Amino acid sequence: MCISEISKTGIVPVIKLTKIENSERLAEALLNGGVNVAEITFRAAGAENVIRRITKNFPDMIVGAGTVVNLEQARSAAEAGAKFVVSPGIDEEIVKWTQDNGLVPLPGCVTPTEIMIAVRFGINVVKFFPAAQYGGVDTIKALSGPFESLRFIPTGGISIGNLAEYAGEEKVAACGGSFMVSSKLLEEEKWNEITEICIEARNIIEL
Ligand code: 3PG
Repeated sequence: MCISEISKTGIVPVIKLTKIENSERLAEALLNGGVNVAEITFRAAGAENVIRRITKNFPDMIVGAGTVVNLEQARSAAEAGAKFVVSPGIDEEIVKWTQDNGLVPLPGCVTPTEIMIAVRFGINVVKFFPAAQYGGVDTIKALSGPFESLRFIPTGGISIGNLAEYAGEEKVAACGGSFMVSSKLLEEEKWNEITEICIEARNIIEL
């Protein structure tokens, strides 16, 4: 359910929000740009509070936790209302806990071995991170040979400039990135600019 919604939007903004009080303004900026998905990363302290505020005030938004590297973070994300849990790599303990608690795990997998672990858990969409350094679309295509039903959310190095290339690949479920919510835009509270980049990105996805 959550994955099909994410896939429909086609974009997963990777957010490191340090000013928790800006949670609602950020959610509004994304929604105004047609993006109803947010990955709130635990790279910023208080990520669980951002998740809680957005899920409470924008119930239609699909909010997940990002950079989840231990169970404690997974638990606090779930408690705050996150629907999906993104990790840079695959950790079986986090995947199992996430599934047992009704959340969707999105582990980072870039090798066949990592993908085989994900497949064992019944996962059919993985994060592909860092996408640019691991060979981008070419690697996704090659991995799709043995793992035909798997789809990927490439993240890392995606920009407005190369979004079309990733989004055009049939095995790509959605594209992740911080390009529409960079630290600079967030720090300078450029809500209109965030909305504009989201609109631009959505237009590219829909092409
Ligand atoms: C992530 O955590 O998913 C990535 O750091 C996002 O990568 P980007 O900043 O290159 O989009």
